[in-house]
Amino acid sequence: MFTHRRRWSRGGVWGAAVLVALVLAGCAGSPTWLAPQSPNVGMILNLSLIEFIIALIVFIVVEGMLVYSAIRFSRNRGEASQTEGNTRLEIAWTLAPAIVLLIVFFVSLPTLIKLASPPQSPAVAAAGDPPVAAAQMLRVRVIGHQWWWEFQYPDYKIVTADEMHVPAGMVVSLDVESVDVIHSFWVPQLANKVDAIPGHTNHIWFQSGNVGTYRGQCSEFCGVQHANMLFNVVVDSPDQFQAWVQQQQAPVAAVTGAAAEGEQTFMTGACIGCHTLDGTKAKGTLGPNLTHFASRGAFAGAVLPNTPDNLTRWLTDPQAVKPGNDMPNLHLTKEQIAALVAYLESLH
Ligand code: CUA
Repeated sequence: MFTHRRRWSRGGVWGAAVLVALVLAGCAGSPTWLAPQSPNVGMILNLSLIEFIIALIVFIVVEGMLVYSAIRFSRNRGEASQTEGNTRLEIAWTLAPAIVLLIVFFVSLPTLIKLASPPQSPAVAAAGDPPVAAAQMLRVRVIGHQWWWEFQYPDYKIVTADEMHVPAGMVVSLDVESVDVIHSFWVPQLANKVDAIPGHTNHIWFQSGNVGTYRGQCSEFCGVQHANMLFNVVVDSPDQFQAWVQQQQAPVAAVTGAAAEGEQTFMTGACIGCHTLDGTKAKGTLGPNLTHFASRGAFAGAVLPNTPDNLTRWLTDPQAVKPGNDMPNLHLTKEQIAALVAYLESLH
């Protein structure tokens, strides 16, 4: 009986080790705040390291006293003396944690203040970052939907989804809200988390670093497809960003052939009830604005890479791909789907 239990517990230790290894392997290649790409996340990482060291010191002192007491006052050295209250000790173990918390508070304060509001000048730019164009700031309105993210650029009159473009080195100021339930906007390498709350606007800012694509994720449980509420932040060079703005501001181009058939299907079908194509009669607002759909790297909450095959799969039965989402199965024919794919993939 005893040996059986011992064998089980050894198996348990191995099981736990394998589990930890698997969890850590799952993190490999994931976006992580341990690899900051903005001064904001750099500040958060520094603060976390300082607080980790403080916690480590507390751990070593407390565990050290515990181990020391266990050895020094163990049973084979005779019975420990029974003590009834010790005013000095009690004051000490009340004051010590209070002092530790005060230290943590004052250590955190400068970072909290800096993260609270965007800098008036681009002085926070880390060394080596591209120069910031004047004291300009890019404003983006971020709106959480079940289960995708909408990005509006009020100064440029651009509305897009699943993919937010920002120029490198620019201070980006975000107004974050939601149309349905509480979501949480999080780009681990660029900015701190902020809740997206219906009927209330939260503000955060970040200064983007190197050119690249950074994964964002909803980080507040918001329904069955919470885990599939992703987005990408594309940090462009200033020139690339200007080109992107011009492309996004252009009206929907005229189309011919299969794409024209798709346009016909789109404009006469259920699509326009939920989707907007700027400059056309499609003015629905329930789903993503599709004006420049083909320019996006991914769709459906950035879950599917934007390829004709994936779009065909999506249009055939959106509920099979992402159950519970707002887009119904429209029971389109194969021909209608092929035409719609040709049309949507022409919307650069
Ligand atoms: Cu939106 Cu989780």
